[in-house]
Amino acid sequence: MAEYDYDVLVIGAGPGGYVAAIRAAQLGLKTACAESRETLGGTCLNVGCIPSKALLHASEYFDAAANGAMAKMGIKVTPELDLEAMHGQRRDAVKQLTGGIEFLFKKNKVTWLKGRAAFEDAHTVTVAGERVTAKNIVIATGSTVTPLPGVEIDQKVIVDSTGALDLPKVPEHMVVIGGGVIGLELGSVWRRLGAKVTCVEFLDQILPGFDGDIRKESNKIFKKQGIEFKLGTKVTDITSDGTTATLTLEPAAGGEATTLTADCVLVSIGRRANTDGLALDKIGLTPNNRGQVETDHDFRTSVDGVWAIGDVIPGPMLAHKAEDEGIAVAENIAGQHGIVNHAIIPSVVYTWPEIAGVGLTEELAKEQGEVKVGKFPMMANSRAKTNHEPDGFVKIIADAKTDRVVGVWAIASVAGTMIAQAAQAMEFGATSEDIAYTCHAHPTHSEAIKEAAMAVTGKPIHI
Ligand code: FAD
Ligand code: NAI
Repeated sequence: MAEYDYDVLVIGAGPGGYVAAIRAAQLGLKTACAESRETLGGTCLNVGCIPSKALLHASEYFDAAANGAMAKMGIKVTPELDLEAMHGQRRDAVKQLTGGIEFLFKKNKVTWLKGRAAFEDAHTVTVAGERVTAKNIVIATGSTVTPLPGVEIDQKVIVDSTGALDLPKVPEHMVVIGGGVIGLELGSVWRRLGAKVTCVEFLDQILPGFDGDIRKESNKIFKKQGIEFKLGTKVTDITSDGTTATLTLEPAAGGEATTLTADCVLVSIGRRANTDGLALDKIGLTPNNRGQVETDHDFRTSVDGVWAIGDVIPGPMLAHKAEDEGIAVAENIAGQHGIVNHAIIPSVVYTWPEIAGVGLTEELAKEQGEVKVGKFPMMANSRAKTNHEPDGFVKIIADAKTDRVVGVWAIASVAGTMIAQAAQAMEFGATSEDIAYTCHAHPTHSEAIKEAAMAVTGKPIHI
């Protein structure tokens, strides 16, 4: 009889966990994946990346029709919002994609253990009352919304991202607390559909972690679109009568309080690692002071046979990072050499225009040494100009001595697609000259990357 029920047991079927499980099975390991949700796919497929993009995409069409962007191209329409149908296509996308993971589990012979897993010891968990043993256990339990102290999310007037994806009507006034990725994406959705949106951000600029120029420029673009910002401001209290919320605001540095009323408040001040109910104490694993499970470069925790990946470990909370770690951990368990280059993980905000970056910001790059920077405005890119998409720019940061590219940032309608080229170039150790001398198809938005690379040495053609 085998010593363990499974070679690999993954806890959590988000992009980290389901990918780890599938790769482990592909590598010939007997694999199970425990998931407590009704459907597979984790935060990303159920209440994150996918449903938010379904609403962003649909609301973008609505906005283009409503704000005159389509009329500019000779298409005159007066749009009428069928919010239920818009939600319907969102739910369909989620259903199809989560069902797709179930199909992939069956195809790859991954057993789905339905229920919440908790450790008994380093090789045993209980799932729905059943004891299951495995030689290797991968913690891929993801993250959940960071609460605002003293504020109760009722998913009606005060919502988190999950509630904001499923509002039954367009709010009159939505206050978004937190000018990060979720606040800007979901704030954009409801602004486009007709809500007045005010974003309250504690710091003096939106999008922490992004390049300084990008933060400033995107703030300008969102303001132009009608989102109001209260930067350097903290929310000290929220009361709700069940239909209207009253927020008390104060300057972050302290000062006189003001109030703001709203029929919808979105709390989007970050996410935190999810280790609740795992009984990590039973295996002697203590999360760090941010609640995350620490691992080494191979995704091993300090407990033999226990591994961890995705949002539950330190690093950016992004689906593609979790997926790559899922592949790497399975390969490492199988005795191969799975690695993830954490220095080159692209990040994309799917607003209009999109905002994307990979590698170092100019600020961080300068702390590490001398740099050369090339910028090219989308206004001077023929495709963006023809498409009436003049906002944004591409910025390339290269090491002053070696010319090696250390960071690429972009605001452009298709910046999320463009950034893949930059990530690949950086993985291959490209210099700005390498990019400048790579032939790019014309007319494409990507030519702006080539021109920004040419600008690093001061010689772009089209400005
Ligand atoms: P998760 O996807 O959180 O999955 C963890 C799973 O583990 C969950 O299904 C949970 O039910 C399960 N689980 C937890 N504990 C247990 C237990 N004890 N037993 C059994 N199961 C358990 N990232 C992007 O890259 N691009 C985007 O466009 C993007 N958009 C987002 C939009 C929103 C609104 C949100 C909230 C997030 C978004 N993200 C996006 C972030 C992305 O969703 C996460 O980075 C990603 O889902 C992390 O994957 P994961 O596998 O680590 O964890
Ligand atoms: P975030 O970390 O991106 O932004 C939170 C913002 O809230 C920050 O700007 C922070 O300064 C601010 N803040 C914190 N406390 C505050 C307070 N009390 N008052 C006012 N402002 C406050 O977190 P967000 O937007 O909640 O997203 C969570 C995670 O989900 C992110 O880490 C992101 O990686 C991921 N995500 C990724 C997406 C993408 O890749 N397109 C889309 C949505 C989420």
